[in-house]
Order: sequence, then C-alpha cells, then structure tokens
Amino acid sequence: MKFLVLLCLISIVEVKELPSGFEKCHQSDPKINSCLNIAIQNSLKILKLGIPSFNIPPIEPLKFDYIADDSSPSSTMSLNSVFKNAELQGLADSKIHKTTTRFKNKFGLKSESFTKKLDFVGQYSMTGQILILPIRGEGFMNISLNELTTKHELTGDFYKGSDGQSYINITNYRVKLLPKLVIFRFDNLFNGDKTLGTTMNNLLNDNWEIVFESLIPGYEKNFGDKFKEIANRLFSQVPFELIFPK
Ligand SMILES: *[C@@H]1O[C@H](CO)[C@@H](O)[C@H](O)[C@H]1NC(C)=O
Ligand SMILES: *[C@@H]1O[C@H](CO)[C@@H](O)[C@H](O)[C@H]1NC(C)=O
Repeated sequence: MKFLVLLCLISIVEVKELPSGFEKCHQSDPKINSCLNIAIQNSLKILKLGIPSFNIPPIEPLKFDYIADDSSPSSTMSLNSVFKNAELQGLADSKIHKTTTRFKNKFGLKSESFTKKLDFVGQYSMTGQILILPIRGEGFMNISLNELTTKHELTGDFYKGSDGQSYINITNYRVKLLPKLVIFRFDNLFNGDKTLGTTMNNLLNDNWEIVFESLIPGYEKNFGDKFKEIANRLFSQVPFELIFPK
C-alpha cells in the first residue's frame, strides 16, 4: 500500500503541467489562433522574470554570454565581430499577433511580434570593413531597433518521452527582423579616437539600412537559436497534450 502511494507520487511529480499562469489552447478550438495570441502575450509577463522550476532564464533582459558573428562577407561589409555580456532589452514588452499553428505530422507555429524599442547592448569587439571603410574597435555598443516587427517561424518534431507521452522538439526557429529604424552606437572605435569614432557612428546611422542588411543574418540566427533554446526548455518538460489539449 505504502509502495503504491509512493509510485503514484513519483508519477505525479514526473509529468509536468504548464507553468502556472500559462493558458492552454485546444487543438479543436476554432479560435485557436486568437487563443494563442493571448496565451503567448500573457506568457511574456511570466517569462519576463523567468521560470526557475523549468530552468528558463528571465527574458528581461535576455542575456547572451558570447556571440561570434560568422555572417559571410557582403559587397558592403566584411567583418569579424564578437559580442560579450550582451543582452536584449525590451523583449517582454512585445505585442503578439497573427499566430497560426499546425499539428499534422510535424508541429508548426508562426507568429508576429511588434516591439516599440528593442535594444541590443553589451561589449563588442570588431575588425573589418563596413561600407568599404575600415572599422575596428572594442567597447560598449548599443544597437537600438525601433518599431520592430519580428516574424517567428517554429517547426518541430513529435517524439515519445521515456514516460510514453508525446513531446515537441523544436528543430528550427526562424526569426525575421523588420525594424523601421536602427540606431547604432559603438563606443571606443579606432582606439578611442573621438573624431573618427563620431564620424563612423554618424556614417553607420546615415546608412543604417545598408549596414543592418549585412548584419541581419547573424542577428537573426543568434536570436533564433536563443529563442529555440527557451522554447525547448518548456516543450521538453510538458507533454504536448498538456499544452495543446485535443
Ligand atoms: C540604447 O539606445 C537607445 C536609443 O538611442 C536608448 O533609448 C537606450 O537608453 C540605450 N541603452 C543604453 C543601455 O544605453
Ligand atoms: C531535437 O532535434 C535536434 C535536432 O534539431 C536533435 O539533435 C535532438 O536530438 C532532438 N531531441 C530529441 C529529444 O528528440
């Protein structure tokens, strides 16, 4: 008897429900898309502070220890850059729209978020060429994305966990960043030469669209990888049907 009770307790402990405050959207709900817009919107409030019991870090700010930008050279840029102790500020204030899902064979979710101001700040170090001009420096940076629309596209596989339940594994998280304006600030360019540094920052900002165009693939990849990691912390711990009941 005692043994049975113990077994029951263990199995109760093992299958996790969604963290409290997360809403469930039913697969059969004809309004599942608007349900998900609201559910994801509300989950941002919880994700803002992180969910320690799921090992999910706070997304406000969302920290990146180290990013090596491996984007391939373009006609306007060839750059080696590294970001350290970088973070995204403003993610939790995003508005969620246009969510759609699919559950047949594979899991799919598309969504759009709008963020009034998303700042990517931290320590940079770079050397190379931007707009055909040499650039090098090391120090504080702030890349401010204004009126930003982000398109999210997640695809995943279903798999059976060791508990026999079905789980989602997000295999691909694609991010597309569409800002209305980008403001660059790189401190301490050219060994701290003030005149050259100011000139270069002005040049980057006057031509932000071209500059951002070449930087974007690296950012989209790094942000997507980070978002995938967070999504999988949740999806790997809560069975699919406890997130999306039938
Ligand atoms: C980054 O730049 C934006 C836009 O200029 C500004 O609003 C924000 O306060 C800056 N953040 C930091 C940490 O300097
Ligand atoms: C999830 O997918 C990745 C490939 O994207 C794979 O390496 C990993 O083993 C998968 N995890 C599970 C639990 O199936």
